[in-house]
Amino acid sequence: MGAEPTAQELKDLVAEFEPGKGHLLPALHRVQETYGYISRDAIEAVARQLNTTPALVYGCVTFYADFRTHRPPETEITWCSGPACRLAGGERIREAIEHTLELPLGGHSDDGRYGLHLGQCVGTCHESPQVWVNGEVRGGLTVAGAIRLAREVKAAE
Ligand code: FES
Repeated sequence: MGAEPTAQELKDLVAEFEPGKGHLLPALHRVQETYGYISRDAIEAVARQLNTTPALVYGCVTFYADFRTHRPPETEITWCSGPACRLAGGERIREAIEHTLELPLGGHSDDGRYGLHLGQCVGTCHESPQVWVNGEVRGGLTVAGAIRLAREVKAAE
């Protein structure tokens, strides 16, 4: 995992965004695309740049499911919460993975090796129910398959 960005790096990253121009979301997307998450320091850097409060920025970060406030784990299982995947038994897949990983949705292991993340439909509904492992579709899952997958992720070094 890379080092934390410095205050100067964060400042430079969002330097082009301006207050009062609807730049909050673009600035937050820039941070997340660059670092994979939006740290407390990044929230403060964005707030300073846009001349607003960290509380307002934090509220925005936590409102949108796409933003995250913690560094992503090395291996991330993203569970699709879309309607087609739910209809195909997605809830049972989620429960099986949560149980096997011993993590709630949104949680990650203490060592940061793996985590379980909430995802939205990306249009690959024909492979329902599905998860993505670091972005790669693992579709047509059964409960047994989901448990196997979670065990593999948990055991991987
Ligand atoms: S509902 Fe899961 S990919 Fe569309």
